[in-house]
Amino acid sequence: MKYLISLVVCLFTSYIPFKFDLVKTKDTSNEYISDLEEKLGKDMSSKKPDFTIKGVSAEAGESLVKNGFVPKSMGKKAGRQSKHFVCTSCHNVVKEDPDLANPNAQARLDFAIQKGLPFLQGSPLYGVVNRSTYYNGDYYKKYGNLVNKAKNNIREAIQLCAQECAQGRKLDQWEVESILAYFWKIGIKRNDISLSDVEKAALVQASKSDDAMMKKKGLELLSLKYMDRADATFVPPPSNRKVGNGLAGNASNGAKIYELSCLYCHQKQKYSYLDLDKSKLSLNYLKRHLDTYHRQSVYQVTRWGVPVYNGKKSYMPQYTLERMSEQQLTDLVSYING
Ligand code: HEC
Ligand code: HEC
Repeated sequence: MKYLISLVVCLFTSYIPFKFDLVKTKDTSNEYISDLEEKLGKDMSSKKPDFTIKGVSAEAGESLVKNGFVPKSMGKKAGRQSKHFVCTSCHNVVKEDPDLANPNAQARLDFAIQKGLPFLQGSPLYGVVNRSTYYNGDYYKKYGNLVNKAKNNIREAIQLCAQECAQGRKLDQWEVESILAYFWKIGIKRNDISLSDVEKAALVQASKSDDAMMKKKGLELLSLKYMDRADATFVPPPSNRKVGNGLAGNASNGAKIYELSCLYCHQKQKYSYLDLDKSKLSLNYLKRHLDTYHRQSVYQVTRWGVPVYNGKKSYMPQYTLERMSEQQLTDLVSYING
């Protein structure tokens, strides 16, 4: 990978005209990388919201994502989307991976601690317009054919999650377009990816140039700076729940996972009837069920999730390997075991 990067940069910079002036072309603006990509020839028109539909606005979309409804003051009123969740129950709306080219669960947790963000099962909605495929990896096992429609279509991806993940009603067209409009506001910006001054200047040059080859190289360079999909690998709980997965746990790291993930939904029954806190009572409850095969076992709920149950539509999403590593699960167990 490293080799590939330097090769591309090298090919790219070798393309820069001889009299390239780094200082003059130095660019300090923090534009959306999608704007830059469009200047380099990428066609993103299919993802653009349709503002001709009545009621569509990024503000309405933001309100739907964060509060689950749109107040009348925003032009068009809509009832609550889900009784159980809002989109931000499971997704961050800001950058959560320090290195967008190499997302990593522990680097994300460290970043979450530093920024006071929750550590959640869903990938961030920040940067979702910059991805080219959705519900990747093993998600077809969970959502079956629904994934086919949503895989390459951001509108269907939104609709799938509203109904299946959030267990709510279907969104109206103006609501989908509004959410999409909001997603464009939380797209990846240039300062969120790491670019050297030379690379920045080269990109500015390429975006102003008429040279198709140079533009193509610019797009290739940018594509190495962030992941255009969120990978997802389902893993089962350890086969022997008494022994665990054989790793040594770090309880203080586990405490952070408990706080920024489990308690985000369970403290004061925010999104679940199960009320958890940091008391001995809570921790002993989890400890007691840990090595069982019940829906109260931490191994069970993290890796399989908790299904919709008894006609109640609430459920708990599982953590993929990308969202909680095997080491992190061991750390969490180590914290619970005290
Ligand atoms: C109960 C948890 C939960 C809620 C609530 C929820 N989501 Fe999701 N969402 C997920 C999970 C888990 C995934 C699967 C994979 C991922 O995010 O990469 C997902 C995936 C997505 C994706 C595709 C991301 C990708 O890159 O594959 C979009 C878009 C999305 N959700 C939008 C929404 C919107 C909009 C709402 C609110 C209407 C919402 N979600 C509510 C859990 C949730
Ligand atoms: C996105 C929100 C969310 C997160 C994060 C979350 N949970 Fe849950 N959890 C739920 C929901 C919703 C249920 C389903 C129960 C219900 O209907 O209220 C649930 C169910 C459970 C249950 C089963 C309860 C029972 O008696 O049936 C356990 C145990 C549990 N969660 C533990 C955890 C632990 C441990 C973590 C952290 C690794 C965690 N949860 C993270 C939302 C969440």
